Amino acid sequence: MDDGLSAAQTQCATVLSGLSDDRRELFELRLEHWWPDLGDGLNAVYGTQTTRDVALQLAQRAATAYLERDPDLHRLDLVRSLEPNWLQQPRMVGYAAYADRFAGDLAGVERRIEYLKELGVSYLHLMPLLRPREGDSDGGFAVADYRNIRPDLGTLDDLRSLSQSLRDNGISLVLDLVLNHVAREHAWAQAARAGSERHRGYFHVFPDRTKPDAYERTLPEIFPDFAPGSFTWDPALAGWVWTTFNEWQWDVNWGNPEVLLEYADIVLFLANAGVEVLRLDAIAFLWKRLGTTCQNQPEVHSITQVLRALARIACPAVSFKAEAIVGPTDLLQYLGQGTHHGKVCDLAYHNSLMVQIWSMLATRDVRLSSHALSALPPAPTSSTWICYVRCHDDIGWAIDDDDAAAVGLSGPAHRHFLSDWYSGVYPTSPARGLTFQHNLATGDRRISGTMASLVGLASATSPHEVDLAIGRFLLARAIIFGWGGIPVLWSGDELAMLNDADWADEEGHAGDNRWAHRPRLDWDVATRRHDPTTVAGRVFTGLAHLARVRAGLPQLHASVATEVLEVDDWGVLGTLRRHPAGLLVGLYNVTDSWRPWSAARVAELGLDRPFDAISDRIVEPDADGNLWLPPYAGWWLADPPEVDRQ
Ligand code: GLC
Repeated sequence: MDDGLSAAQTQCATVLSGLSDDRRELFELRLEHWWPDLGDGLNAVYGTQTTRDVALQLAQRAATAYLERDPDLHRLDLVRSLEPNWLQQPRMVGYAAYADRFAGDLAGVERRIEYLKELGVSYLHLMPLLRPREGDSDGGFAVADYRNIRPDLGTLDDLRSLSQSLRDNGISLVLDLVLNHVAREHAWAQAARAGSERHRGYFHVFPDRTKPDAYERTLPEIFPDFAPGSFTWDPALAGWVWTTFNEWQWDVNWGNPEVLLEYADIVLFLANAGVEVLRLDAIAFLWKRLGTTCQNQPEVHSITQVLRALARIACPAVSFKAEAIVGPTDLLQYLGQGTHHGKVCDLAYHNSLMVQIWSMLATRDVRLSSHALSALPPAPTSSTWICYVRCHDDIGWAIDDDDAAAVGLSGPAHRHFLSDWYSGVYPTSPARGLTFQHNLATGDRRISGTMASLVGLASATSPHEVDLAIGRFLLARAIIFGWGGIPVLWSGDELAMLNDADWADEEGHAGDNRWAHRPRLDWDVATRRHDPTTVAGRVFTGLAHLARVRAGLPQLHASVATEVLEVDDWGVLGTLRRHPAGLLVGLYNVTDSWRPWSAARVAELGLDRPFDAISDRIVEPDADGNLWLPPYAGWWLADPPEVDRQ
């Protein structure tokens, strides 16, 4: 059967006729290699009739983007092809920020590159910076124009200049690709409202409530407080439009191949601006199916496969990260399972680990977390977890009822406890978070708050309490830096910034307390980042140290999975990484007292003289045969370096 490859080759040869033979041949080889991925993905979504035509259009776009790609980015494509596992390297450390809240604007971010390098950052996720709607834009996640920058942040040239400077300094730029929805003010939505039938077809629009009501029977609500329901009546459309998030964020219709072609252009456009990782925002929601939650539908993965194949043909330096905050089994699909293996995203958020870290710190007990984390199915060896403790979003208590039951807890009661603990309602809790989206139907209460406020730095009144809070802070970070994915810091955490007390004052923010943990970086505090007598100094240097140590440990390459060891002491989480370069045993004391771990067990695992890479010393057992971990200690145990072996 003619799948169109030869037609695509002819067509692309014309586009690329001005290039040298070897440059053209490189494109042809990629096209041929990834063509089946493109076709299979399209076929699964749109059927054979449409596939050939859409595939040809995609090939044409890929060739044009390849032609226009900056020579420096072509070089990067080659460099990445030589090191396809670059995201898995222990040198990777991430930082995520709003450009304006971090450094004023894009030029300001460029001036802060040295600061990021001090922290060991090699991956910079800047929150949405394409032109959003005016007023509340959900932090930029309501994009009005994908081809322009938010005016107060700078211009496209500033973005190109920033991505180039970052690249020159070994930092990869990560940007959001918001592909589930556009702002109501986006040109497609405006055209639909003005009566364009073509553009109406870009959205899910229903003339009456029949279908919306049928869908809503099984749809969960994302923002029950400020955006209940999933459909919004639009008078200009004279219809109900699908709006999963806010009423001014219109879900696009991926069942329409024209939508796919539009986003293909956007992917190539961002790639040629120097973006190296695209964070596929809210990707779980792309495909709607009656009678389901309309999340994690199989078509989502086929669509991702198409976009990924396109990127691999035109701009292979670009990788994809899934923003899918869903249960473990669904989550793994985003990293490529079955026929999609190796063909979709390389990165996904380890939401479970994040939630379990907060749970362990609140309960000072690792049993639930050890059980839940060891029950996770293995991820593909080519994939990498984004390991994080805080990000720009709230924390939802994704504790599985079966996991809770396995260790004698009730899922709902434990989730209730965590909400009480982290909102500071629980009597002995030092945390000072805020309740976000209390869902009366399910009883769920999510939590906003900065890392520092959640670990107890906002409520600490004595040096001892400060020490304990910093202990919790650095322990949580040691876990994520030692997990083997990319640890990503959320801006402000490196200086232990507290909740922004004035979060509600900015225009459009008052209803959304996630802004409490999105403070403007305090550069006065940053000047004290090397001062070990300050909280900021202790946290900043502690994090930079973890990044440095991590970069030198091949055991932390992400291709190897972290195994969770059987619980010995209830207060200590034990992990094991069996890397061909050597073993790494992680021991993490989640309590404020000294805790034992049997030295014989560590020896059985293969470490006779365990060397803690974080504190740079051999740890010796006590007379009782135990290694004793100080309060909130995190150890990365390996064989001693050569010099220490004699
Ligand atoms: C993602 C973002 C979140 C945003 C939502 C809608 O989940 O992380 O901040 O509200 O998408 O775009």
